[in-house]
Amino acid sequence: MTNLGTPPATERFLPLKGKNVVLGVTGSIAAYKAADLASKLVQAGAQVDVVLTGSAQEFIGKATFAALTHRPVTTSLWDANSPMAIDHVALALSADCVVIAPATANTLAKLALGLSDDALGATVLATDAPLVVAPAMDANMYSAPAVQANLALLRERGVVIAGPGEGRLASGLIGKGRMEEPLRIVGLVRQAIGRGGDYAGRRVVISAGGTQEPIDPVRFISNRSSGKMGYALAEAARDRGAEVTLVSAPSALDEPAGVEVSQVRTVAGMRNAVLAASQQADLLVMAAAISDFSPAEVAAEKIKKNGAGLTLELVKNEDWMPLVTGPKLVKVAFAAETGNAVEKARAKVTSKGAVFTVANDVSEPGSGFGTDTNRVTIVDAAGAAEQLPLMDKLAVAHAILDRALPYLK
Ligand SMILES: Cc1cc2nc3c(=O)[nH]c(=O)nc-3n(C[C@H](O)[C@H](O)[C@H](O)COP(=O)(O)O)c2cc1C
Repeated sequence: MTNLGTPPATERFLPLKGKNVVLGVTGSIAAYKAADLASKLVQAGAQVDVVLTGSAQEFIGKATFAALTHRPVTTSLWDANSPMAIDHVALALSADCVVIAPATANTLAKLALGLSDDALGATVLATDAPLVVAPAMDANMYSAPAVQANLALLRERGVVIAGPGEGRLASGLIGKGRMEEPLRIVGLVRQAIGRGGDYAGRRVVISAGGTQEPIDPVRFISNRSSGKMGYALAEAARDRGAEVTLVSAPSALDEPAGVEVSQVRTVAGMRNAVLAASQQADLLVMAAAISDFSPAEVAAEKIKKNGAGLTLELVKNEDWMPLVTGPKLVKVAFAAETGNAVEKARAKVTSKGAVFTVANDVSEPGSGFGTDTNRVTIVDAAGAAEQLPLMDKLAVAHAILDRALPYLK
């Protein structure tokens, strides 16, 4: 058997490691989706304590959550097996975040009034932890003035309202009321827990993905960038309290929650969006793979395959990263190279006006485009190079943010 060059196993970076999340589940038809959310929170490293309302138990049982979280599940204030039996605010005090998903219209009304006639109500009232609420209900219920007023009140009190999304509802109606996607709720929980982090009050712009330069209306020139490194950077900065703008060239990845996403396609689109977003920013990390060359002309019609072949003339694109400036802006460049990445990155630091360049040799196993891991070397303006081990891209993202932080003004 040939050795396919499998990279050494690296530990997955768990963004919620060491965090306690209380997951409240209420009596909505969407309660089954809470099982997926519980699983995703556990996979992100959190310790998850589930609290079910009486109505939630009509839809889904304790055993599902106990098996997914490996923790006792609370169903009542008077439940002898719950930590709440000894101390009814135990969960409230241990929580780093309370998330209610799905949240019924009834529970929203109870939260707005501050009722504590069940385990979930008591937990919410007694906690200092951030509260994330994901409403789920029929579109007519959702648009009811009472529900809207309750949501406005909760928002005013600093509660994070996740979704709801639009689409087909269990009632058969098409409209607003679908519970937010579990992965996005996890993103909002991560953001809520990190809101006092070391990037709090900072504006961070991340570029990601591979630009597409049109040849004609149906074809383009692009590259293999998946966007994974840039998306990981956007999530890491969000998780540390930053206000993040992600300028994304086409990528198959889901947009991270709690991040402003500007979707672009071409080099020119990327340039305009990055220039605009960076003016008031503290940090720009250019993780996007931007086409160095573009077709000299874009055909207005699809090019026919009449001739024996096709010769395209390409022109070199201007390097506009030096032009991106702002009163406080600190810039970090990326250099994806095949061979001698560090040498090439050294030349790039000053030419880009960056404080350091993140070099990665995309030809190395486990590194570069499409992989979940990366091995990078950080080359600073003095030419010093720090090689980091092969790591999960989220861990690489945090390492980059650690090193950028001291430069911020
Ligand atoms: C089949 C069925 C589905 C329901 N789905 C929802 C729903 O999606 N959203 C909602 O707000 N209420 C829904 N309800 C109504 C709630 O279950 C009811 O208001 C209950 O009192 C909520 O209690 P809780 O908020 O304590 O969980 C549904 C009721 C039934 C019978």
